[in-house]
Formats: sequence, structure tokens, C-alpha cells
Amino acid sequence: MIDLDFALIGHQDSWRAVADVLAVLRGPERTPLPDDEIKDIFPWIPPRALCYVDVGSVVGAKARGAYIDSFIPPDGLGAACVRENIARVRAAAANAIQAGAKIVSLGGFSSILIEGNFDQLPERQGTVFTTGNTLTVAYIVQGIKKMCALEGRDIRSSTLLIVGATGDVGSGCARCLAPHVRRVLLCARNVERLRRLATELQADGVQVEMATDLRRFSADADVVICAASLPSPELLLGRVAPRAIVCDAGYPKNLSPGAETLGARIFFGGLGQITGGLRFAPDFHGILNRHPFPNVVQGCLLEGVALALEGRFEPFSQGRGAITPERVEEMETIAARHGIYLAPLYNADGPVQHDCGAPALVEHYITKPGDRWIQGAAQ
Ligand SMILES: NC(=O)c1ccc[n+]([C@@H]2O[C@H](COP(=O)([O-])OP(=O)(O)OC[C@H]3O[C@@H](n4cnc5c(N)ncnc54)[C@H](OP(=O)(O)O)[C@@H]3O)[C@@H](O)[C@H]2O)c1
Repeated sequence: MIDLDFALIGHQDSWRAVADVLAVLRGPERTPLPDDEIKDIFPWIPPRALCYVDVGSVVGAKARGAYIDSFIPPDGLGAACVRENIARVRAAAANAIQAGAKIVSLGGFSSILIEGNFDQLPERQGTVFTTGNTLTVAYIVQGIKKMCALEGRDIRSSTLLIVGATGDVGSGCARCLAPHVRRVLLCARNVERLRRLATELQADGVQVEMATDLRRFSADADVVICAASLPSPELLLGRVAPRAIVCDAGYPKNLSPGAETLGARIFFGGLGQITGGLRFAPDFHGILNRHPFPNVVQGCLLEGVALALEGRFEPFSQGRGAITPERVEEMETIAARHGIYLAPLYNADGPVQHDCGAPALVEHYITKPGDRWIQGAAQ
């Protein structure tokens, strides 16, 4: 692979996804490997490019990239594995540089491992890196506003809780949404960082509470964003209002499957949809993007795609805590110009439904005969 417009660095969040990736790599003629064998060989697989990714823009631009998997094990995201995982992201980055990628998006934990440590990446030779978190924030904020509209809620009277509030994604969401809600509850583990963010928001007249323990807030949240860097879905929300709107933006997901959610309206946030066409070669469609709608991709990866289609090869998002509403607006405008929009909302049960029971969104897509281009359109 040489002279790519972009590269996307990612990792799988379940062993099921890993098994599917390996099945494509091994080819249909080979029988699938048993789960225990997959877990044995996985640590020995070096980061590598899995496929070309071709994207089209609704205004006619095209860009070619590659998806590079760092092969970080789905259950190896904890603190004990940080050094090894950073080495994996560095090796994946070296692959992207060697392939001549002009811009690289760091998906999921790849950016968390590198955020604030971009000097840990290999010598660049003209390749720029973005965490992609600005577009992620845009789609979380858009999703919250859309969900409020679908549920007939007035966001201005809501209490917003952000778990992982001091992170790059969480603090960006706080800056975008705080001026539009009644009060904000900030949760993370480090008190000093919480205090700094609370002070910043209070200076703009926002009513803020902060706590390291979700049970310590004085009010129940009715809108919740989960954006903590948890190594597995382990968050038990506890105190939220019945029928709260909850956006789980984590990768891996934040919410424990056993969390008590009191009829909460949950959706998976931070996702966008490419409407100008997306093609993988070889065909990893539905394996690298495991969503119930076509051409849905994480916002962090889409940021690199949108910048490549725009011909803006710059490190748009770097560091932690620098995302502002102005930058979010700039990024979502670039993406929209090329037909990249908020993805249809869904959760573990499927597409998000209206209260009346009808699907909130109608989707259709067409596959051109003899071609693997798939077009999606949200109505
Ligand atoms: N959907 C998408 O497209 C997309 C895109 C990018 C990122 N993400 C996901 O979004 C999440 C956040 O990413 P990020 O870049 O913002 O990470 P980050 O900058 O490392 O921030 C993580 C935040 O989580 C907090 N945190 C960590 N463990 C916690 C715990 N046990 N309880 C409460 N708070 C905790 C951290 O603060 P303390 O350390 O003080 O607790 C910090 O506020 C990750 O899961 C990431 O994979 C999703």
C-alpha cells in the first residue's frame, strides 16, 4: 500500500469481532478457528493493514485509505497493558507512515493511549495524526439534541450528567451542551481536573456540581453522556431520572449490561454515516463496521476521512481538553459538506424507537450490481 490519503487505526472491542476479522483474513475455504486458539495466537499478531478503504463524497471528491488494526486484545485495555498497547499503536502508526498516509485517525483507545504524548509516535515524514475526537463530540451533541426532540423533551430544563467529564470527549461535550441545559453534573476520578473544568464552566454562568461518586450528586440526571475510558462495559449508572436520555459513547461501551436504567432511552453515541459511498477491499463490510445501518463509522475515524475528502491534511484534534464549540461546528460543517452526517440512532435492541412504536428513522440503501459500493441515505 502506498500514497494513501488517510489511514484509520483501530482495534476490536469483542472476541466475536476478532474471530470475524480473522475469518476474513484466513479466507472462506478455511474452517473458523476455535475461540481458545484465537486467544492463544492473538497476542502474536503484529499490527497490520487489513484492507483498503475507498470513500466518496456527495460533491464528487474521492479518497483512498487503509484500515490498520493494532490488534490490541479486547480484554487487554486495562492499566496493566498500557506499555504494550502504546507499542502496538506506535507500530500501527509506523505502518500508516510507511504507506504514505497523509492523515491518520486514531480510533478508540489508540488516541487515549497517545493523547498528550504525540511525541511517542514514530518519525512522521509528512503524515499528520488526529484523535478524531472533535467529530465524535459533534455527533454525541447532535444525538442528544435529536433524542430530546424525538422524546419531546426540552433540553433547557434538563440536568445533564457527564461521566468521564474531564476527558477529551467529555469536556468537549460539556462545553457544547452546558450553555443549553439547566445544570451540569460532572463525574470522573481525578478531583483536581474536575475542579478545573467546573471553574471554567462556572465562569460562563453554568450551574455545576462535581463528584467522583455518582451517588453524591444532589439531583438525578435526565440527560446522561457516558464518555469514560473504561476497559470494559462496567458502568452502573445508579441515580438517573426514570426515562432519562442516555448516550453511551464509550468504545468499548461504558454501560454494564446489568445496569439499572429505569426505562432509560439509551443510544450509542458518536457515530456518523457516510452517504457518498464506502468500500472495503477485501470486503470487511459489516465486520469492521458492526452497526445495524449501512456505512456507519465512529466519529473519530470519520474525522480523518472528512479531512482527507476536504484536502485538509492537518492534525485537527490533538491533546486532551482543547475541543471548543467553534471547532466542533467547523468540523461538522466539513463532514456535512461531503455527505457525512449523524448516524441513525440505535442501541443494543436495535434502532431507537419513537414512543408510538414506529421506527424513529427510515433507512434505505442500494448496492450497484457488480459493485461493492453501498450508498446509504438517512431520511
Ligand atoms: N464513539 C466514538 O466514535 C468514540 C470516539 C472517540 C472516543 N470514544 C470513546 O470515548 C471514551 C472517552 O475517550 P476520551 O478520548 O475522551 O478519553 P480520555 O481523554 O482518556 O478521558 C477519559 C475520561 O474518563 C474518566 N474516567 C476514566 N475511568 C473512569 C472511571 N472508572 N469512572 C469515572 N470516570 C473515569 C477520566 O477521568 P479520570 O481519569 O479522572 O477518572 C476522563 O475524564 C472512550 O471510551 C473512547 O474509546 C468513542
